[in-house]
Amino acid sequence: MSTVLVTGGSGYIGSHTVISLSENGYDVVIVDNLSNSKMEVLNRLEKITGKRFKFYNIDCCDTDALRKVFEENKIDSVIHFAGLKAVGESVKIPLDYYSNNIGSLISVCRLMSEFNVNNIVFSSSATVYGSSEDVPFTEESPLGVCTNPYGWTKWMIEQILRDYAKADPSKKVCLLRYFNPVGAHESGLLGEDPRGIPNNLFPYISKVAGGTLDCLTVFGDDYDTPDGTCLRDYIHVVDLAQGHVKALKFLDKTEDSVSVFNLGTGKGTSVLEALNAFEKACGHEIKHVIGPRRSGDIAVCYASTAKAEEVLGFKAQYGIDEMCSSCWKWQTMNPEGLKD
Ligand code: NAD
Ligand code: UFG
Repeated sequence: MSTVLVTGGSGYIGSHTVISLSENGYDVVIVDNLSNSKMEVLNRLEKITGKRFKFYNIDCCDTDALRKVFEENKIDSVIHFAGLKAVGESVKIPLDYYSNNIGSLISVCRLMSEFNVNNIVFSSSATVYGSSEDVPFTEESPLGVCTNPYGWTKWMIEQILRDYAKADPSKKVCLLRYFNPVGAHESGLLGEDPRGIPNNLFPYISKVAGGTLDCLTVFGDDYDTPDGTCLRDYIHVVDLAQGHVKALKFLDKTEDSVSVFNLGTGKGTSVLEALNAFEKACGHEIKHVIGPRRSGDIAVCYASTAKAEEVLGFKAQYGIDEMCSSCWKWQTMNPEGLKD
C-alpha cells in the first residue's frame, strides 16, 4: 500500500482529501499543527472511513520534528496543504505568512530529499493568475502581480518547486491551482470550520442562514458582469479532493518534472446566484445588503478545465446546488463548528 504524507491534513481541504485517499486504497499519515483546525477532525474522519489515521501535531517549519515522521513511516509521496490562507490577515502579518508558508514547504522538500521521497502535490491557487481579461484562465495564462502576501507565497512556492525539480531530476511536482473550494462532506460530519468571523462567501452565507450572523454584505454590484456582482468558479470540496487522487496517480506515470493543473468547474457563478442557490437549499430567505467593493477583488475568475480533463481525467461532478445543500447540512449539524 502506498503511503501519503498529508500536511495540513486536519484542515478543510486536507481532511476531505484524506477520505478520498483512503477510499482509493492509500495509507495516510497526517501532520498538522492545529493552528487552523481541531483534533475533533480525526474523530470525524474515523466515523466516516472507519479508520484512525496516524496523526502528528507538528509544525512543518520545524524540520527536526518533521524528520521523525519520515523516520517512523515509509512515505511514498507528499500532498502539502499546510499553510496560512487568509488574504486580509496576510496583509497585516506578512512575515508570518512568508515564514510559515515558505518555511514549511522548504522543510518538507529538504526531508523529501533526505528520505528519497520523489512526488509532491502542492495546493496552489487561482490567485496566481493575472487580471479578469484573461478568463477563462488556462494553465498557460500569464501569472499576475499578486495583490497580497498570501498570493505571493503561492506564486513564490510554485517557483521554488520548479527550481527544486530542476535541480534534482528524481523529483516530480504537481501544482494544483484551486479555484473556489466550497461545500462539505455528504455526511455533514466535516466541512469548513473557520475561526471567528468568516472572510469567504460560503461560510459567511452559511452563518447568516443559520442565524449566527445577522446579514451578508454583497461586496459590490457595479461590476461588468450580468448581475453586477463578481463571478467565481466554485468547486465542491469533495470533487477537489478527488482531483488530488488523480494528481498522485498522474505523478506515478508522468516523465515531466513539473505539471500544473487548474481545479475548477469552468463555470462562473455570481454572488447573487450563489445566494439564491443557498436560499433554495436552506428553504428560507437570507438577509443581505449591497455594500461597496472589497479591495483586491477581481470581477471574474473561472478556470479552463480542458487540461485537467484531458490529462488527469478530472471533471467536477457536483454543481452549485449540491455545494449549497452540503454546506447547509454541515451548518445545521454543527452550528458552532467543531469543539476544540
Ligand atoms: P485550512 O486552514 O483549513 O487547512 C490548512 C491546515 O494547515 C490547517 O489545518 C492548519 O492548522 C495547518 N497548518 C498551517 N500551517 C502549518 C504548519 N506550519 N505546520 C503544520 N500545519 C500547518 O485551509 P484549506 O482551505 O484546507 O487550504 C489548504 C491549502 O489549500 C492551503 O495551502 C491553502 O492556501 C490552499 N488553498 C485554499 C483555498 C481555499 O479557498 N480554501 C484556495 C486555494 C488554495
Ligand atoms: N463576497 C461577498 N461578501 C462576503 C464575502 C465574499 O460579497 O461577505 C464576495 C467577494 O467579493 C467575491 C466572492 O464573494 O466576489 C467570493 O469571495 P471569497 O472571499 O469567498 O473568495 P475569493 O474569490 O475572494 O478568494 C478565494 C480564496 C483565496 C484565493 C482566491 C483565488 O479565498 O484564498 O479564491 O483562488 F486566493
